[in-house]
Amino acid sequence: MRILVTGGAGFIGTATVRTLTAAGHDVVVLDSLRADVHGDRAAPDLPAGVPLVRADVRDAAAVRDALADADAVVHLAAKVGLGVGIDDIDDYVASNDLGTAVLLRAAAEQAPHVVYASSMVVYGEGAYRCAEHGGVHPPPRAEADLAAGVFDPRCPACGRVLVPGLVAEDAPLDPRNVYAATKAHGERLLAAWTRATGASATALRFHNVYGPGMPRDTPYAGVASIFRSEAEHGRAPRVFEDGGQRRDLVHVDDVAAAVRAAVERPQGAGRVEAFNVGSGTVSTIGEVARRVAELLGAPEPVVTGEWRAGDVRHVTASSERAGRVLGWRAAVGLDDGLAELVGGTDRVGRTGT
Ligand code: UD1
Repeated sequence: MRILVTGGAGFIGTATVRTLTAAGHDVVVLDSLRADVHGDRAAPDLPAGVPLVRADVRDAAAVRDALADADAVVHLAAKVGLGVGIDDIDDYVASNDLGTAVLLRAAAEQAPHVVYASSMVVYGEGAYRCAEHGGVHPPPRAEADLAAGVFDPRCPACGRVLVPGLVAEDAPLDPRNVYAATKAHGERLLAAWTRATGASATALRFHNVYGPGMPRDTPYAGVASIFRSEAEHGRAPRVFEDGGQRRDLVHVDDVAAAVRAAVERPQGAGRVEAFNVGSGTVSTIGEVARRVAELLGAPEPVVTGEWRAGDVRHVTASSERAGRVLGWRAAVGLDDGLAELVGGTDRVGRTGT
């Protein structure tokens, strides 16, 4: 297949391009190489022969050219992370909402299958249970609770602290920060686009992606990369809240394999199908910090009790549907993946995707 990958020079992008080309696909990359993400790094690490169109995804003419004869588009180009403050709101919306809109408009004529990088954060706090009230979808955490060190959400009916569960794809979207709002809006735009064009689209809701090539020392670096930078300098990783917040860290090669599966198995025409993409292993951030510190011989992590506005407590979903429908399952265990991340070594049982 001929596949356009927007954001193909980024962290998830380069892994995806490697996976798609290794599977025999003909890939074109469109990437702006924006300085706040790529710094002054030399050329991106793309397989030989893969053309790179250096353009912003909002550049309609460049996108139209890059789309020529494409059977599918993998739309990864986006500004990621929680944001460094509300001053970023217009840049998030311009980059993510407008970027997706320009891409979809350009793609309307030939209506290729679109695989969209969505995120687990579209669910907000996701699924919880109250001992008395059963399944609960809690509102944002109260400032007073956070200040008092009560980090787990409470039942809106009785105030009991809730027990987290795994979110399924049919849970309501309830984005809790600007970035999450743009990702959810991207899915809505895709839904409108597929209805109008009769094309198919897949939204992959990624968990926390880590692995080689992760952005370092930028406001958009994920927590595993931040912990690695601290530990490499002999400093203790700084763990926010009480360290009990749960995430599912999924290796970038597994994410690339999920993208490939979605590209190769378009679901029904005229609609968007969503899939959670996680490793299936839930860890606390405190555990991840301890493991990274241990691997690098750094001091024990410090639990700071600080919190970030707009952060959700637990982000964990079931990826069972991706296994059933796309035939995809994560293959890299967290221990192997973290050892590779901090040591730059090959992990055991590399999947070669
Ligand atoms: C991450 C991704 C986001 C993706 C989402 C999917 C990044 C920057 N963000 O968001 O693009 O859509 O996963 O689930 O990759 N923390 C610390 N200490 C630190 C930094 C963070 O304890 O120094 C904690 C945070 O409070 C949070 C957790 O680590 O509880 C994860 O933070 P982060 O890596 O920024 O990711 P998410 O916000 O989950």
